[in-house]
Amino acid sequence: MAFLSDTLARVKPSPTIAVTTKAQQLKADGKDVIGLGAGEPDFDTPQNIKDAAKRAIDAGKTKYTAVDGIPELKAAICRKFKRENGLDYTPSQITVGTGGKQILYNALMATCNPGDEVIIPAPYWVSYPDMVLLAGGTPVTVECGIETDFKLTAEKLEAAITPKTKWFIFNSPSNPTGAGYTAEELKALTDVLIRHPQVWIMSDDMYEHLVFDDFRFATPAQVEPRLYDRTLTCNGVSKAYAMTGWRIGYAGGPVALIKAMGTIQSQSTSNPCSVSQYAAVEALDGPQGFLDENRKLFQRRRDLVVSMLNEASGITCPRPEGAFYVYPDISGCIGKTSAGGAPIKDDEAFATALLEETGVAVVFGAAFGVSPNFRVSYATSDAALEEACRRIQNFCAGLR
Ligand SMILES: Cc1ncc(COP(=O)(O)O)c(C=O)c1O
Repeated sequence: MAFLSDTLARVKPSPTIAVTTKAQQLKADGKDVIGLGAGEPDFDTPQNIKDAAKRAIDAGKTKYTAVDGIPELKAAICRKFKRENGLDYTPSQITVGTGGKQILYNALMATCNPGDEVIIPAPYWVSYPDMVLLAGGTPVTVECGIETDFKLTAEKLEAAITPKTKWFIFNSPSNPTGAGYTAEELKALTDVLIRHPQVWIMSDDMYEHLVFDDFRFATPAQVEPRLYDRTLTCNGVSKAYAMTGWRIGYAGGPVALIKAMGTIQSQSTSNPCSVSQYAAVEALDGPQGFLDENRKLFQRRRDLVVSMLNEASGITCPRPEGAFYVYPDISGCIGKTSAGGAPIKDDEAFATALLEETGVAVVFGAAFGVSPNFRVSYATSDAALEEACRRIQNFCAGLR
């Protein structure tokens, strides 16, 4: 009898965490490493949010809470959905979990049966296909290349839908590309979905607040109210409020689904951290000026990285609408040999040689389902970004 489960054999560890760990290891060994792999803001949680958590501790809010969230947080989430997305949810339609990740996982665990298909546009966040596999479903990835700015078209969505399609996972702005769908682009997709009543929509709005220039964020249930009854609108405080370590994510959706997700959570982790929930109330209800400052900071960094990467030979880097990632195409580098003698046969070889020869850690595109590319997270200081891009330019100039 095998000790490890068959379920484990279906999934792989997160490649983004693997890159971050490798970069940290090299740093600890004394190497001059610049990590562009981590998907988290490089600054601290705002003080008012930390103070709310301290008050919660002092008030003894340190015990078990309702499994899927305290009433104060559910009420704050309802206000957020109304204020920012024009969506009406009641507290019974809200669930709170340990990060956005658990929310998505609960939803898939609560709904996927063997044979159920889940449509995932690629490039995708690394966890989507593996979570679907863990839940026993079948991921159906649809490649969306640089020619459509890494966005899914209505035609491709239509072609991917079958009678077995249970979910369509939508992520805008996207990890790993930063691509954001305008309301019009999204409407083209919802027009397809409205014709297929068996398909539910899981909208992962984690990067909602990180959008640049005059781009306006849109979410499916808002763009097409007729999809409200089969949409799970997922979000969290991790990226917007620099709260990745607090582990609070949430979703709004139909009561039956929300209840089912709570059942999964009740038999796995129970409630998310009580103190973090009080901090999240302050994040959502407190002053929001922090978000604007972040946007400006990230927009400046995006512009810096896009212009410097486009100067590197063999690299084409689109300018995305949001998040804190860019996803340059490196077709012009493939088939060459690095100055250190490494054959660059694919994007994984590129990322490995780049790390070994220049100390710059990026995540290779194959991890996200579209190659040859790599992902840069520009959630790091301007100085580190400039130095990293200079090293990438030199690395590319040395390819023969
Ligand atoms: C697209 C996307 N969704 C969800 C998450 C999960 O966020 P959390 O840290 O709240 O679990 C991430 C985190 O990297 C993400 O990039």
